[in-house]
Order: sequence, then structure tokens, then C-alpha cells
Amino acid sequence: MSVPPQGGPRHIAIVMDGNGRWATRRFLPRLEGHRQGVDTLRRCARACAQRGVAVLTVFAFSCENWGRPAEEVSGLMELLVQALAREVPQLQRDGVRLYFVGEREGLSPKVCAGLAQAQAATAENSRLVLNVCFNYGGRWDIAQAAAALAARGEPITEASLHGALGLAHVSDPDLLIRTGGEMRISNFLLWQAAYSELFFSDRLWPDFDEPALDEALAAFRGRERRFGKTSEQLLSAHSC
Ligand code: IPE
Ligand code: IPE
Ligand code: MG
Repeated sequence: MSVPPQGGPRHIAIVMDGNGRWATRRFLPRLEGHRQGVDTLRRCARACAQRGVAVLTVFAFSCENWGRPAEEVSGLMELLVQALAREVPQLQRDGVRLYFVGEREGLSPKVCAGLAQAQAATAENSRLVLNVCFNYGGRWDIAQAAAALAARGEPITEASLHGALGLAHVSDPDLLIRTGGEMRISNFLLWQAAYSELFFSDRLWPDFDEPALDEALAAFRGRERRFGKTSEQLLSAHSC
């Protein structure tokens, strides 16, 4: 028998994949898919807040994405700067706190300034924390955390490493969604996803609408999260 978790996920993480294919299928440049992807993220963040989700963490640009054609990479950088300038006032009204996670080195001063300004401008908001993983890799995150602890001469334990990671300010994701049909993690939250429920959607990210989100939430509610224990243990804990 399955014991559904109480309510919905507190923290959702998403690998927003499929923008390029969405555009190519329409004979559009790939960047048009990324533009649509920004609109989808805006709607998704709002829908998450409405459903009581406290934290949304999205994968926007991986360390490996630098290997794409230079035109696509520069287009993505420009898109980020433009999207921040345009979206921050509405994020303010919606109570969204933006948080950027990833390596700053390698990003242009303009991009770094955009990230810092948007993060500072929304720092007082508390309805939804939106973590944007940009120039992020799970291996990079673990390595930088270990290096930071070593530099401070602190012991490396599970707790200290967790505290030095990019998402130390939030609990681990309860639900990790990947759109676009691929069933892989692609170097996303390698540490934090240890006990996340995984949900793979065939929808391309620009097509990931509210019904698609609700489908993922319904699947999550049907899962039994055992964290290594047995179903019987969970049942007896619930009946106390
Ligand atoms: C995800 O969409 C966005 C980024 C990686 C920046 P893709 O651009 O990977 O889209 P597909 O997988 O090529 O369709
Ligand atoms: C993962 O998508 C990264 C982001 C969504 C930002 P990719 O399209 O880069 O992943 P792979 O190359 O298919 O594994
Ligand atoms: Mg992809």
C-alpha cells in the first residue's frame, strides 16, 4: 500500500529542457525557443506559488552549455540580461525572491551586474524563492564547497558540505522534473537530489503548461517516500 506524502512538494527543481527542439520544429532559430522558455518560467513560477510551493529551482545554463555554438551562448547571455531587466518589477509585485546559483567566473561583467542587481532587488520577498542555476554544474558545486571548507580549514562532513553548497539556503528538492523527454540528470543537483522524486515529462519546456505541472504534482502525491525505511515503518509512524 502506498502512503502519499502530506500535501504537495515544498521545493520543486526543474531541468527546463527542449527549447531548441521547440523552435526547430517551427523552423525558428533556437533562440526563439529560449525566449519562449522565459515566458514558460514566468507562468510556471506563478503557478507554483499559487499551489503553495515555497521554492522553485531551475536549471537555466549548465557549465557544459558553453560548448554550444558561440551565437547561441551569446544569445542566451543577452536573453538573461534582458529578461531580468523586464521581469524584476513583476517579480517584486508577486513576492518572488530571486537567487542565482553557479560560477560567476567566466560570466561577463554585464551579466554579473544583472544577476547581482536582480538578487538584491528581490531580497526582501518571501512568497516564493526562485533559484536560477546559471553557469551551474552539480560537480562544480560539490568541488567548490569542498574547496571552501578546505580553505577555511574546516572538516568535510555531510553537514558542512551541505552548508557550503549553492543551495544551502533551502531544503533539498522534493520533486525534480525534467522536461524534453530525456531521462538523465545532466549534472544538475547531484548532491541535493539524493532523495528527490523524479518526474520526466515528454513536453518540451515551452509547452510545459499548468496541466503539465499538475500532472507532475499528482504523480508526486502518489509516491511513497521511504528514505530507506520500509512501508510498514511508514504506516506505523502515520498511525501514531
Ligand atoms: C534547454 O533547452 C535550455 C538550455 C540548455 C539553455 P535546450 O536548448 O537544451 O533544448 P533542446 O534540448 O536542444 O531541445
Ligand atoms: C540541461 O540540458 C541543461 C539545462 C537545461 C540548462 P542540456 O540540453 O544541456 O542537457 P543534455 O546535453 O541533453 O544532457
Ligand atoms: Mg537540451
